[in-house]
Amino acid sequence: MCSPLIKKIKETEIKAAESFKSASSPEELEATRITFLGSKGLFAELMKNLGSLRKEERPAAGSAANAARQITAEAHQLAKERLAKFVTNRNNWLDVTLPGRQLRRGHSHIISRTATEICSIFGNLGFSIVVGPEVETNYYNFEALNFPPDHPARDMQDTLFVSTDLLLRTHTSSMQVRTMEKNPPPVWVVVPGKTYRRDSDISHSPMFHQVEGLAVDKGLTFSDLKGVLTAFVTTIFTPDTKIRLRPSFFPFTEPSAEVDIACVLCGGHGCRLCKGTGWLEILGSGMVDPAVYGFVNYDPDQVSGFAFGLGIERIAMLKYGLDNIRMLFESDLRFLTQF
Ligand code: DAH
Repeated sequence: MCSPLIKKIKETEIKAAESFKSASSPEELEATRITFLGSKGLFAELMKNLGSLRKEERPAAGSAANAARQITAEAHQLAKERLAKFVTNRNNWLDVTLPGRQLRRGHSHIISRTATEICSIFGNLGFSIVVGPEVETNYYNFEALNFPPDHPARDMQDTLFVSTDLLLRTHTSSMQVRTMEKNPPPVWVVVPGKTYRRDSDISHSPMFHQVEGLAVDKGLTFSDLKGVLTAFVTTIFTPDTKIRLRPSFFPFTEPSAEVDIACVLCGGHGCRLCKGTGWLEILGSGMVDPAVYGFVNYDPDQVSGFAFGLGIERIAMLKYGLDNIRMLFESDLRFLTQF
Protein backbone atom coordinates (compact mmCIF):
# COMPACT_ATOMS: atom_id res chain seq x y z
CA MET A 1 0.00 0.00 0.00
CA CYS A 2 1.44 3.38 -0.88
CA SER A 3 1.01 6.43 1.24
CA PRO A 4 -1.51 9.13 0.32
CA LEU A 5 1.42 11.44 -0.51
CA ILE A 6 2.90 9.02 -3.05
CA LYS A 7 -0.56 8.68 -4.56
CA LYS A 8 -0.75 12.47 -4.84
CA ILE A 9 2.72 12.57 -6.44
CA LYS A 10 1.61 10.05 -9.10
CA GLU A 11 -1.58 12.00 -9.82
CA THR A 12 0.35 15.24 -10.16
CA GLU A 13 2.79 13.59 -12.57
CA ILE A 14 -0.10 12.35 -14.78
CA LYS A 15 -1.86 15.71 -14.71
CA ALA A 16 1.40 17.48 -15.61
CA ALA A 17 2.02 15.11 -18.54
CA GLU A 18 -1.47 15.82 -19.89
CA SER A 19 -1.12 19.58 -19.48
CA PHE A 20 2.25 19.71 -21.24
CA LYS A 21 0.91 17.55 -24.06
CA SER A 22 -2.05 19.84 -24.67
CA ALA A 23 -0.20 23.17 -24.34
CA SER A 24 -0.82 24.91 -27.67
CA SER A 25 1.26 28.06 -27.36
CA PRO A 26 4.58 29.12 -25.77
CA GLU A 27 2.59 31.24 -23.30
CA GLU A 28 0.46 28.30 -22.23
CA LEU A 29 3.57 26.14 -21.91
CA GLU A 30 5.26 28.62 -19.61
CA ALA A 31 2.14 28.90 -17.41
CA THR A 32 2.04 25.08 -17.16
CA ARG A 33 5.71 24.98 -16.23
CA ILE A 34 5.15 27.50 -13.42
CA THR A 35 2.12 25.55 -12.17
CA PHE A 36 4.01 22.27 -11.87
CA LEU A 37 7.74 22.97 -11.78
CA GLY A 38 7.96 26.58 -10.55
CA SER A 39 9.58 27.44 -7.19
CA LYS A 40 6.09 27.73 -5.74
CA GLY A 41 4.62 25.07 -8.00
CA LEU A 42 2.87 21.80 -7.19
CA PHE A 43 6.06 19.72 -7.04
CA ALA A 44 7.74 22.26 -4.70
CA GLU A 45 4.63 21.97 -2.50
CA LEU A 46 4.81 18.15 -2.49
CA MET A 47 8.51 18.29 -1.56
CA LYS A 48 7.62 20.49 1.38
CA ASN A 49 5.09 17.92 2.54
CA LEU A 50 7.80 15.26 2.74
CA GLY A 51 8.91 16.86 6.05
CA SER A 52 5.62 15.99 7.67
CA LEU A 53 5.96 12.24 6.97
CA ARG A 54 7.19 9.69 9.43
CA LYS A 55 10.91 9.03 9.10
CA GLU A 56 10.54 5.50 7.61
CA GLU A 57 8.10 6.76 5.00
CA ARG A 58 10.32 9.57 3.76
CA PRO A 59 12.87 7.71 1.52
CA ALA A 60 10.18 6.02 -0.63
CA ALA A 61 8.14 9.21 -0.95
CA GLY A 62 11.28 11.29 -1.60
CA SER A 63 12.47 9.10 -4.44
CA ALA A 64 8.92 8.93 -5.90
CA ALA A 65 8.75 12.73 -5.83
CA ASN A 66 12.18 13.08 -7.49
CA ALA A 67 11.30 10.57 -10.21
CA ALA A 68 7.94 12.27 -10.91
CA ARG A 69 9.58 15.65 -11.07
CA GLN A 70 12.23 14.32 -13.45
CA ILE A 71 9.58 12.82 -15.75
CA THR A 72 7.60 16.07 -15.66
CA ALA A 73 10.73 18.06 -16.54
CA GLU A 74 11.20 15.79 -19.58
CA ALA A 75 7.55 16.25 -20.59
CA HIS A 76 8.15 20.00 -20.42
CA GLN A 77 11.22 19.67 -22.62
CA LEU A 78 9.33 17.63 -25.25
CA ALA A 79 6.46 20.12 -25.34
CA LYS A 80 8.94 22.94 -25.71
CA GLU A 81 10.54 21.32 -28.76
CA ARG A 82 7.15 20.56 -30.30
CA LEU A 83 6.00 24.16 -29.93
CA ALA A 84 9.30 25.55 -31.22
CA LYS A 85 8.72 23.65 -34.49
CA PHE A 86 5.12 24.82 -34.63
CA VAL A 87 6.16 28.46 -34.22
CA THR A 88 8.84 28.16 -36.92
CA ASN A 89 6.29 26.70 -39.35
CA ARG A 90 3.74 29.35 -38.42
CA ASN A 91 6.21 32.17 -39.02
CA ASN A 92 7.57 30.67 -42.24
CA TRP A 93 4.36 29.75 -44.09
CA LEU A 94 5.10 32.42 -46.66
CA ASP A 95 8.65 32.35 -47.94
CA VAL A 96 8.97 35.29 -50.29
CA THR A 97 12.40 34.11 -51.43
CA LEU A 98 10.99 30.92 -53.04
CA PRO A 99 10.52 31.02 -56.85
CA GLY A 100 6.86 31.57 -57.82
CA ARG A 101 4.66 28.78 -59.13
CA GLN A 102 3.89 29.63 -62.75
CA LEU A 103 0.45 29.23 -64.27
CA ARG A 104 0.42 27.11 -67.41
CA ARG A 105 -0.14 29.33 -70.40
CA GLY A 106 -2.35 28.31 -73.27
CA HIS A 107 -1.96 29.30 -76.89
CA SER A 108 -4.08 29.19 -80.02
CA HIS A 109 -4.91 25.81 -81.45
CA ILE A 110 -2.91 24.63 -84.46
CA ILE A 111 -6.06 24.95 -86.62
CA SER A 112 -6.59 28.59 -85.59
CA ARG A 113 -2.92 29.32 -86.13
CA THR A 114 -2.94 27.78 -89.59
CA ALA A 115 -6.16 29.65 -90.46
CA THR A 116 -4.62 32.93 -89.31
CA GLU A 117 -1.47 32.25 -91.30
CA ILE A 118 -3.43 31.40 -94.46
CA CYS A 119 -5.63 34.51 -94.14
CA SER A 120 -2.68 36.77 -93.49
CA ILE A 121 -0.91 35.52 -96.63
CA PHE A 122 -4.00 36.32 -98.70
CA GLY A 123 -4.39 39.57 -96.77
CA ASN A 124 -0.95 40.60 -97.99
CA LEU A 125 -2.09 39.85 -101.55
CA GLY A 126 -5.04 42.25 -101.20
CA PHE A 127 -7.86 39.98 -100.02
CA SER A 128 -10.25 40.96 -97.18
CA ILE A 129 -11.69 38.47 -94.72
CA VAL A 130 -15.43 37.78 -94.55
CA VAL A 131 -17.32 35.17 -92.54
CA GLY A 132 -20.80 33.73 -92.86
CA PRO A 133 -23.39 31.32 -91.41
CA GLU A 134 -22.65 27.66 -90.83
CA VAL A 135 -26.34 26.77 -91.11
CA GLU A 136 -26.96 27.70 -94.72
CA THR A 137 -29.74 27.57 -97.25
CA ASN A 138 -29.83 25.18 -100.14
CA TYR A 139 -29.74 28.27 -102.36
CA TYR A 140 -26.37 29.68 -101.29
CA ASN A 141 -24.70 26.33 -100.72
CA PHE A 142 -25.81 24.69 -104.00
CA GLU A 143 -28.34 26.39 -106.25
CA ALA A 144 -26.65 29.76 -106.76
CA LEU A 145 -23.36 27.93 -107.27
CA ASN A 146 -24.85 26.20 -110.29
CA PHE A 147 -25.17 22.74 -108.73
CA PRO A 148 -27.88 20.86 -110.66
CA PRO A 149 -30.74 19.67 -108.41
CA ASP A 150 -29.64 16.03 -108.75
CA HIS A 151 -25.94 16.67 -108.06
CA PRO A 152 -24.46 13.95 -105.80
CA ALA A 153 -23.03 16.55 -103.40
CA ARG A 154 -26.58 17.42 -102.41
CA ASP A 155 -27.25 13.81 -101.48
CA MET A 156 -27.86 12.75 -97.88
CA GLN A 157 -24.59 10.77 -98.06
CA ASP A 158 -22.58 14.00 -98.10
CA THR A 159 -24.75 16.77 -96.76
CA LEU A 160 -26.05 17.15 -93.22
CA PHE A 161 -29.53 18.61 -93.65
CA VAL A 162 -31.27 20.56 -90.90
CA SER A 163 -34.55 20.74 -92.82
CA THR A 164 -35.56 20.44 -96.47
CA ASP A 165 -34.13 23.84 -97.22
CA LEU A 166 -31.54 24.32 -94.45
CA LEU A 167 -28.26 22.45 -94.17
CA LEU A 168 -24.85 22.61 -92.52
CA ARG A 169 -22.74 24.24 -95.20
CA THR A 170 -20.61 21.71 -97.05
CA HIS A 171 -18.09 24.37 -98.14
CA THR A 172 -17.35 28.05 -97.52
CA SER A 173 -17.98 28.63 -101.23
CA SER A 174 -21.51 29.39 -99.97
CA MET A 175 -20.23 32.89 -99.21
CA GLN A 176 -19.44 33.62 -102.87
CA VAL A 177 -22.98 34.66 -103.81
CA ARG A 178 -23.72 36.22 -100.39
CA THR A 179 -20.64 38.45 -100.83
CA MET A 180 -21.33 39.43 -104.45
CA GLU A 181 -24.99 40.15 -103.67
CA LYS A 182 -23.94 42.77 -101.13
CA ASN A 183 -20.93 44.28 -102.93
CA PRO A 184 -20.48 45.51 -106.47
CA PRO A 185 -17.20 44.45 -108.14
CA PRO A 186 -14.28 44.48 -107.50
CA VAL A 187 -14.43 41.78 -104.84
CA TRP A 188 -11.32 40.22 -103.28
CA VAL A 189 -12.25 38.09 -100.28
CA VAL A 190 -11.21 35.01 -98.35
CA VAL A 191 -13.71 33.15 -96.17
CA PRO A 192 -12.36 31.04 -93.31
CA GLY A 193 -14.78 28.85 -91.36
CA LYS A 194 -16.23 25.54 -90.30
CA THR A 195 -17.78 23.20 -92.84
CA TYR A 196 -19.63 19.89 -92.46
CA ARG A 197 -19.99 16.65 -94.35
CA ARG A 198 -21.12 13.15 -93.53
CA ASP A 199 -17.63 11.75 -93.77
CA SER A 200 -15.22 10.31 -91.20
CA ASP A 201 -11.91 8.47 -91.61
CA ILE A 202 -8.20 9.02 -91.09
CA SER A 203 -8.16 12.10 -93.32
CA HIS A 204 -11.81 13.26 -93.10
CA SER A 205 -13.79 14.63 -90.18
CA PRO A 206 -17.55 15.44 -90.16
CA MET A 207 -16.60 18.98 -89.12
CA PHE A 208 -13.59 20.54 -90.77
CA HIS A 209 -12.36 23.97 -91.81
CA GLN A 210 -11.99 25.65 -95.16
CA VAL A 211 -10.76 28.90 -96.57
CA GLU A 212 -12.60 29.98 -99.71
CA GLY A 213 -11.09 32.64 -101.97
CA LEU A 214 -12.92 34.81 -104.49
CA ALA A 215 -11.54 37.54 -106.71
CA VAL A 216 -13.78 39.29 -109.27
CA ASP A 217 -12.38 42.30 -111.03
CA LYS A 218 -11.74 43.74 -114.47
CA GLY A 219 -9.59 41.54 -116.72
CA LEU A 220 -8.64 38.74 -114.31
CA THR A 221 -7.30 35.65 -116.09
CA PHE A 222 -6.20 32.13 -115.29
CA SER A 223 -2.63 33.48 -114.92
CA ASP A 224 -3.77 35.65 -112.01
CA LEU A 225 -5.21 32.55 -110.35
CA LYS A 226 -1.97 30.66 -110.87
CA GLY A 227 0.10 33.61 -109.65
CA VAL A 228 -1.92 34.02 -106.46
CA LEU A 229 -1.82 30.31 -105.68
CA THR A 230 1.92 30.11 -106.36
CA ALA A 231 2.50 33.04 -104.00
CA PHE A 232 0.39 31.24 -101.41
CA VAL A 233 2.07 27.82 -101.52
CA THR A 234 5.59 29.24 -101.63
CA THR A 235 4.82 31.25 -98.48
CA ILE A 236 2.93 28.67 -96.44
CA PHE A 237 5.29 25.82 -97.37
CA THR A 238 8.83 26.45 -98.64
CA PRO A 239 9.88 29.10 -101.22
CA ASP A 240 10.80 26.41 -103.76
CA THR A 241 7.42 24.58 -103.58
CA LYS A 242 6.24 23.67 -107.09
CA ILE A 243 2.58 23.60 -108.09
CA ARG A 244 0.68 21.76 -110.78
CA LEU A 245 -2.82 22.58 -112.05
CA ARG A 246 -4.86 19.59 -113.16
CA PRO A 247 -8.06 20.01 -115.20
CA SER A 248 -11.09 19.19 -113.08
CA PHE A 249 -14.77 19.99 -112.70
CA PHE A 250 -16.74 22.13 -110.25
CA PRO A 251 -20.23 23.42 -111.14
CA PHE A 252 -19.35 27.02 -110.22
CA THR A 253 -16.02 27.39 -112.06
CA GLU A 254 -15.16 27.01 -115.74
CA PRO A 255 -12.47 26.02 -116.44
CA SER A 256 -11.77 24.28 -113.13
CA ALA A 257 -8.49 22.97 -111.82
CA GLU A 258 -7.30 20.92 -108.93
CA VAL A 259 -4.02 22.19 -107.56
CA ASP A 260 -1.23 19.86 -106.44
CA ILE A 261 2.05 20.69 -104.78
CA ALA A 262 5.23 18.65 -105.16
CA CYS A 263 5.23 16.16 -102.27
CA VAL A 264 6.48 17.78 -99.07
CA LEU A 265 8.01 14.50 -97.93
CA CYS A 266 9.90 13.22 -100.99
CA GLY A 267 10.13 16.43 -103.04
CA GLY A 268 8.46 14.76 -106.04
CA HIS A 269 10.27 11.42 -106.32
CA GLY A 270 7.31 9.37 -105.09
CA CYS A 271 6.74 7.99 -101.60
CA ARG A 272 4.13 6.58 -99.21
CA LEU A 273 2.59 10.04 -98.57
CA CYS A 274 2.05 10.92 -102.23
CA LYS A 275 1.28 7.28 -103.11
CA GLY A 276 4.19 7.24 -105.52
CA THR A 277 2.91 10.10 -107.68
CA GLY A 278 5.25 12.84 -106.37
CA TRP A 279 2.26 15.20 -106.03
CA LEU A 280 -0.21 16.10 -103.26
CA GLU A 281 -3.63 17.61 -103.95
CA ILE A 282 -4.22 20.69 -101.82
CA LEU A 283 -7.12 22.66 -103.24
CA GLY A 284 -9.81 23.15 -105.88
CA SER A 285 -10.01 26.26 -108.03
CA GLY A 286 -11.11 27.78 -111.30
CA MET A 287 -12.45 30.80 -113.17
CA VAL A 288 -15.87 31.87 -111.87
CA ASP A 289 -18.53 30.34 -114.13
CA PRO A 290 -20.58 33.13 -115.84
CA ALA A 291 -23.72 31.27 -114.71
CA VAL A 292 -22.88 32.31 -111.11
CA TYR A 293 -22.77 36.00 -112.13
CA GLY A 294 -26.36 35.52 -113.32
CA PHE A 295 -27.43 35.14 -109.65
CA VAL A 296 -25.88 38.45 -108.59
CA ASN A 297 -26.35 40.71 -111.59
CA TYR A 298 -22.66 41.04 -112.38
CA ASP A 299 -22.01 41.57 -116.08
CA PRO A 300 -19.69 38.79 -117.37
CA ASP A 301 -18.69 41.08 -120.24
CA GLN A 302 -17.39 43.64 -117.73
CA VAL A 303 -15.76 41.46 -115.08
CA SER A 304 -14.06 38.13 -114.70
CA GLY A 305 -12.79 36.28 -111.67
CA PHE A 306 -11.31 33.24 -110.06
CA ALA A 307 -12.11 31.22 -106.95
CA PHE A 308 -10.38 28.59 -104.90
CA GLY A 309 -11.16 26.54 -101.82
CA LEU A 310 -8.77 24.76 -99.50
CA GLY A 311 -8.99 22.61 -96.38
CA ILE A 312 -7.20 24.04 -93.37
CA GLU A 313 -6.67 20.61 -91.76
CA ARG A 314 -5.12 19.35 -95.00
CA ILE A 315 -2.64 22.26 -95.06
CA ALA A 316 -1.81 21.82 -91.34
CA MET A 317 -1.31 18.07 -91.75
CA LEU A 318 1.06 18.52 -94.69
CA LYS A 319 2.92 21.40 -93.04
CA TYR A 320 3.47 19.60 -89.74
CA GLY A 321 3.67 16.01 -90.99
CA LEU A 322 0.52 14.66 -89.29
CA ASP A 323 -0.98 11.43 -90.56
CA ASN A 324 -4.31 11.36 -88.70
CA ILE A 325 -6.82 14.21 -88.80
CA ARG A 326 -8.25 13.16 -85.42
CA MET A 327 -5.11 14.40 -83.65
CA LEU A 328 -6.38 17.88 -84.46
CA PHE A 329 -9.64 17.37 -82.59
CA GLU A 330 -8.70 15.23 -79.60
CA SER A 331 -7.49 18.08 -77.34
CA ASP A 332 -4.50 15.99 -76.20
CA LEU A 333 -2.13 18.47 -74.56
CA ARG A 334 0.88 16.21 -75.19
CA PHE A 335 0.23 16.82 -78.90
CA LEU A 336 -1.08 20.39 -78.84
CA THR A 337 1.75 21.86 -76.74
CA GLN A 338 4.24 20.86 -79.44
CA PHE A 339 3.02 23.64 -81.71
N1 DAH B 1 -15.93 24.12 -102.62
C1 DAH B 1 -15.07 23.08 -103.12
C2 DAH B 1 -15.07 21.92 -102.14
O1 DAH B 1 -15.39 22.11 -101.00
C3 DAH B 1 -13.69 23.60 -103.29
C4 DAH B 1 -13.57 24.58 -104.38
C5 DAH B 1 -13.31 24.13 -105.68
C6 DAH B 1 -13.74 25.90 -104.16
C7 DAH B 1 -13.19 25.03 -106.72
C8 DAH B 1 -13.64 26.83 -105.20
C9 DAH B 1 -13.35 26.36 -106.49
O2 DAH B 1 -13.80 28.13 -105.03
O3 DAH B 1 -13.22 27.26 -107.47
O4 DAH B 1 -14.73 20.85 -102.52
